[in-house]
Amino acid sequence: MKVSIVATGCAMALALAAPVRAEEADAAAIVNGQFVAGGNKPGVRASGAKGVCLTGQFTPSAEAAGLSKAPHFAKTVPVTARFSMGGSNPGISDKAKPVTRGFALRLRDPAGDLVLVIISAPVFSARTPQQLFDFVSVRAPGPDGKPDAEKVKAFAAANPETTKQAAWLNARPVPASFAGVDYWGVHAYTLTNAKGEAKVVKLKTVADAGQLGLTDEELKAKPDSFYADELKERLAKGPASFSLVAIHSEAGDPTADPTALWPEENRKSTTLGTLAITALEPDATCDAATFDPVVDLPAGIAGPADDPMFAIRSPAYAVSLSRRAQ
Ligand code: HEM
Repeated sequence: MKVSIVATGCAMALALAAPVRAEEADAAAIVNGQFVAGGNKPGVRASGAKGVCLTGQFTPSAEAAGLSKAPHFAKTVPVTARFSMGGSNPGISDKAKPVTRGFALRLRDPAGDLVLVIISAPVFSARTPQQLFDFVSVRAPGPDGKPDAEKVKAFAAANPETTKQAAWLNARPVPASFAGVDYWGVHAYTLTNAKGEAKVVKLKTVADAGQLGLTDEELKAKPDSFYADELKERLAKGPASFSLVAIHSEAGDPTADPTALWPEENRKSTTLGTLAITALEPDATCDAATFDPVVDLPAGIAGPADDPMFAIRSPAYAVSLSRRAQ
């Protein structure tokens, strides 16, 4: 089955036809594996199934336009956003560890949107599409409803880079709030300014609230779903804000390996602006289309051309949308 995607701003139409292109077949296989790993629940995302839709605005810094000519870095723009829990199980506990918290962002502009879909860890759990397929496949639940622990262990031993994300999350407390944790773009992005000068960076949102982690005692006392209520209470008092930061690359930084960590200490960084999440938004606003981090990028910001993990996100998100829309 071939999935062709037509995206105009935030509207996306899907047309189904035959036959399959190789990378689309791989995307479909991965997405199927993601659904299976999360218990094959209908009508949900293949990842980020449990989440909250929001609205807000992005105000660029004075430095942003010097790095990128995207119109979103020249004036305040409205934002549609979604916080989520990783995975395709909408019943996942907010207390789950190690699971990434997600932040999908659509910076809206009549000339075209700027979409970033980012997570609460600086690294992803697989380096290549094949490795991601294997990573999710080995987590398929058996007859007891759980993955085969021995198989998961053997896969981790043979693919050590796939363990970095979980190790990073396990070394930190479970976030007390979607607004109390930093999120990373993971991939290497290229920012290009009006003079045609390009810089390779990694993007990160830094929470103004700081890193709000729960102690083990606090975690025990929490119900399985508390993020949505916490956010409602927080937003009633004022916006939840983040700085969008570009961490500049240095020679030798890998640009095509989302499992590779760039050192952030002593790196040059530029604050591109402030993201203010102001209110909850009906789920329908976020569910109508995907946040496509590949297609929805304006001139002035580009993903890594040499990273197949970046490219495959577009067909994968489209397959997920077509399944949950059925
Ligand atoms: C490498 C960096 C990646 C990051 C940071 C990331 C992050 C996320 C986040 C935060 C969501 C939830 C989006 C929402 O709230 O609407 C999501 C959804 C999803 N991700 Fe990823 N992801 C990455 C790579 C991939 C890859 C390589 C695949 C598959 C090949 C994939 C497949 C999906 C799918 C299918 C969805 C559901 C999309 C939808 O139904 O709208 N992701 N991802």
